[in-house]
Amino acid sequence: MRLICMLAAAALIVGCAETNQTNREMDRFIDDLMKEMTIEEKIGQLNLPVSGEIVTGQAKSSNVAERIKAGEVGGLFNLKGVEQIKEVQRIAVEESRLGIPILFGMDVIHGYETIFPIPLGLSCSWDMEAVERSARIAAEEASSDGICWTFSPMVDISRDARWGRVSEGSGEDTYLGCEIAKAMVRGYQGEDLETQLQRNDQILACVKHFALYGAGEGGLDYNTVDMSRVRMYNEYLSPYKAAIEAGAGSVMASFNEIDGVPATGNKWLMTDLLREDWKFDGFVVTDYTGIFEMTNHGIGNLQEVTAQAINAGIDMDMVSEGFLGTLKKSIEEGKVSMKELDTACRRILEAKYRLGLFENPYKYCDEERAKAEVYNDEHRAEARRIASESFVLLKNEPFKGKKLLPLEKKGTIALIGPLADTRTNMPGTWSVAAKHDQALSFREGLEQTVGDKVDIIYAKGSNLVSDAAYEERATMFGRSLHRDNRTDKQMLDEALRAAAKADVIVAALGEASEMSGESSSRADISIPDVQQTLLKELLKTGKPVVLVLFNGRPLTIEWESENVPAILEAWFGGSEAAVALSDVLFGDVNPSGKLTMTFPKHVGQCPAYYAQKNTGRPLGDNSRWFEKFKVNYLDVDNAPVYPFGYGLSYTTFEYSDVTLSASEMTADGSITAQVTVTNTGDREGKEIVQLYIRDMVGSITRPIKELKGFEKIALAPGESKTVSFEIDRTDLEFFNYNLEKVVEPGEFKIFIGKDSQTTNEATLIVK
Ligand code: NOJ
Repeated sequence: MRLICMLAAAALIVGCAETNQTNREMDRFIDDLMKEMTIEEKIGQLNLPVSGEIVTGQAKSSNVAERIKAGEVGGLFNLKGVEQIKEVQRIAVEESRLGIPILFGMDVIHGYETIFPIPLGLSCSWDMEAVERSARIAAEEASSDGICWTFSPMVDISRDARWGRVSEGSGEDTYLGCEIAKAMVRGYQGEDLETQLQRNDQILACVKHFALYGAGEGGLDYNTVDMSRVRMYNEYLSPYKAAIEAGAGSVMASFNEIDGVPATGNKWLMTDLLREDWKFDGFVVTDYTGIFEMTNHGIGNLQEVTAQAINAGIDMDMVSEGFLGTLKKSIEEGKVSMKELDTACRRILEAKYRLGLFENPYKYCDEERAKAEVYNDEHRAEARRIASESFVLLKNEPFKGKKLLPLEKKGTIALIGPLADTRTNMPGTWSVAAKHDQALSFREGLEQTVGDKVDIIYAKGSNLVSDAAYEERATMFGRSLHRDNRTDKQMLDEALRAAAKADVIVAALGEASEMSGESSSRADISIPDVQQTLLKELLKTGKPVVLVLFNGRPLTIEWESENVPAILEAWFGGSEAAVALSDVLFGDVNPSGKLTMTFPKHVGQCPAYYAQKNTGRPLGDNSRWFEKFKVNYLDVDNAPVYPFGYGLSYTTFEYSDVTLSASEMTADGSITAQVTVTNTGDREGKEIVQLYIRDMVGSITRPIKELKGFEKIALAPGESKTVSFEIDRTDLEFFNYNLEKVVEPGEFKIFIGKDSQTTNEATLIVK
């Protein structure tokens, strides 16, 4: 403790000196500190146990306080509450020999207590200001409550809707994924690379799960990944790199293997690529028990896999205690060098130094700030605004000559469905710091906003799913839907009685929030059985039905898309979702979200994504389905129910043809592509204008379209705006067979339109 005070006093320069000077000071400080450290204390810095009430994995850490005193803990995660964290930090700085402060981490994924839409929903806003703002507010709240490190952003490209964790990422697209990765890091750590992490409301980001975690076989969580380097480089790796370039100070290793070697022990990944090619200078933490799990992968015993992890480039061990238990022995036996240990230890200490913890171990513990900031009115208002940007209007047909949505604020609404009156399911998966009863249920949100004008009759209508055991698995972590003991018929009859009295039926159906997220893969991604029956019966009444979907992944809703007049995709919109839904359903806000994952017709089409390769036997125009000896199924055509980039508005937009400032350019030149978009409806609205490019001939096969730009514009009725995209080599280049980044001359198609199926195109020749 005394040593740290003396050293810290000499190092009171964070935030005021030049970066180089700061780095020199930091190096000197850490050199001096490490000279004092025993081998055990160095190993202790690499140890990250779990503590507290929040459960995010199977194994638990024991004797945490004793370990902290013994200098065996570098960081701790899942402990919530500023008083508790302050006390634990006190133990670290006052009762351990050297008094090294510890890092406090948490899965602050889409908000702290003020919860924003699940990341998949947030990505559908295509609004980088909103994405950054949500991360900023999350950082403000978490940091005031003692947290200085978040395990976010998750940037895994995910194309298989069976995988439950698609809810936690930004969908299927590489370009959009990079933009969102950068915005999240800016929100957590700060915008300016020189001054990031200096303020007490800026927290360390952890980009995860490195790498390729979203590509598990069969959409099964934790499953094997096998992928060509060309695909990795062109489609999967860029979002991790983008987050690192935006300054992300830590990286989390993924559970999966790459080329037959688990990521946690993969030297090519963690050293050659991450450190040598990408110049990452932060630290790498394993995922939960990632080191131990290498024994299950069949790579060796705990000592062997632990040595492999540190030799590969892992710095911190989450929960396995492989470093704590075996590293000293491996060093003594010459299997790991002191240099490897020193390097890892230094990286952890550097992170603490950059965060300012040596200067003030309680920098992130401010009870007054916690009271003022956590879940305050301003943050909640922002969550409401941002949630309304994440909803996607999938369908809106006329009913009796008038579009069904927005609803009028009068008459009687029958609000029906197992997701209509649950508080705990509103925030969505991975909202671990949220208070469970804080968010209003959908029903309460409607009552609070329009209850004085509209009569709302509620009926549950059905359970989540007929199988009670399935429902239990799908509503863990206190997210119960309170399974109803009545028969299906009794529940349905009650719903039909409510429907009979109503002018409009709003059906709140889909998944419980824990049907997506970690370890929540589904082999059947339709709306569950009893809910489908309920929906069909509601439609049979002949009353207009609005389907509000709660779900953490694309669902197979072909039947619903054909038979229900209006569908609003709500995802899980966070703590203010209920009022935000009311804003959109009653037209105070015009929906503007667009899908960031393809909605397939059938689960058998997974992985479904727009940026496919043409193959040697393309079907081409889907209207030609079925053709023998072409890429198509016998039983389902290739078109998705809703494509990537799709979403409607209460107004309509028209696009002009695409014009190019020149039809030819050199690989190092640039041109401008333009369209004029007009609001042809009668209300103000926002449109997400999307630029796609296709490289027609390449030395390796190229996707049929790739997103390369977008702009979200607001237009008044009758207003037109010209949207311009500058196209240069960064939009045309790709990694060739030798993994060199190249632009290959030839013909490119430039598409600008409202979704990934746009055919609005111009031709560009690159010389
Ligand atoms: C396992 C998850 O894969 C990871 O995303 C999370 O950050 C850790 N558990 C810690 O909860």
